Amino acid sequence: MDPKISVHITGTGRAVPDRILTNQDLEKMVDTTDEWITTRSGIKRRHIIGPGQSNSDFVAQACRNALAMAQVDAADVDFLLVGTITGDLIFPSTACLVQEKIGARNAAAWDLSAACSGWLYGVKTATALLKTGMGKRALVVGSEMLSTITDWTDRSTCVLFGDGSGATLLEAREDSPGGVLATYARTDGGLAELLHIPKGGSRYPVTPEVLAERSNKVQMKGNEVFKHAVRNMESAAREVLAQAGLGTGDVTLLIPHQANIRIIKAIASRLEIEMDRVYVNLQEYGNTSAASIPIALDEARRAGRVREGDRVLMAAFGGGLTWGAALVQF
Ligand code: UT7
Repeated sequence: MDPKISVHITGTGRAVPDRILTNQDLEKMVDTTDEWITTRSGIKRRHIIGPGQSNSDFVAQACRNALAMAQVDAADVDFLLVGTITGDLIFPSTACLVQEKIGARNAAAWDLSAACSGWLYGVKTATALLKTGMGKRALVVGSEMLSTITDWTDRSTCVLFGDGSGATLLEAREDSPGGVLATYARTDGGLAELLHIPKGGSRYPVTPEVLAERSNKVQMKGNEVFKHAVRNMESAAREVLAQAGLGTGDVTLLIPHQANIRIIKAIASRLEIEMDRVYVNLQEYGNTSAASIPIALDEARRAGRVREGDRVLMAAFGGGLTWGAALVQF
């Protein structure tokens, strides 16, 4: 690591499908109510991909928006990392397809599978690469088309998820204060079955039986995931603050993974951060997994909620189980 090099988020962008699915639409699909979804999760609507659209289309648009904000040419990007569990194809990676779409011809491109923590894991990876001088610019993306892996007959999960992409451009700078102050990432593979797709991979390939039982779709033990989410996002947030020698009072804005308003409120309360310093947009998008923080960050920046010098604390949690946090000064 070169202590003179700091890594800055200089561009953000997002792209989401136009098509919207409301809680009222879901009332017609499964045995649920707008009242239950709103009070138990805080979600009102979500954006859903349409026929002929693909994950890489939205990633490409989000990347173009991030590059335009930073005024950087795609050809000057060294790394392109896409956090996703819903890539266009099994292979090549979605990052490869995006590299071609946006003309990032000098970038090494790959996908990163860490479910809802995918973008944060990407930030950690890219920060390390840039700090060691291996490159100068990295596009780090979180993008999911969760509607394609949702069991639309399971009311306990189908009301929660949505589709969208969020991109960030990370740039290495010399002798420039701020940037990524600290990152943290952890995994507990022993809890994999709390949130997973049991079949449809190489261990249990898709068969007519798998399709009939819909075991190639997301399954979640929501209650248990909830408890781990609160505990681990709080500890990850405290870890990055400790690394940076800062306290929660030094945080301008908390952007937590947008899974459930009750989880977000519980974390904010444990960290003693008032809700007016917490960014919430899950009512509009639902849980977009790896995309949720970069979409929220882009909204917050474009709305003037993140200004130069502001410190933004971000924490995520998801399948794996994986979790992590990042503290960034803009
Ligand atoms: O993205 C990363 C990971 N994911 C998460 O962070 C999600 C974490 N978990 C959660 O957000 C919450 O656990 C849920 C929103 C998934 C569920 O909320 P809950 O308060 O934990 O509800 P529950 O699972 O304990 O279910 C309570 C009741 C049950 O009925 P009974 O057994 O009490 O009669 C469920 O069958 O609510 C029922 N229920 C529903 N009712 C109406 C479950 N889903 C629905 C629904 N509409 N959509």
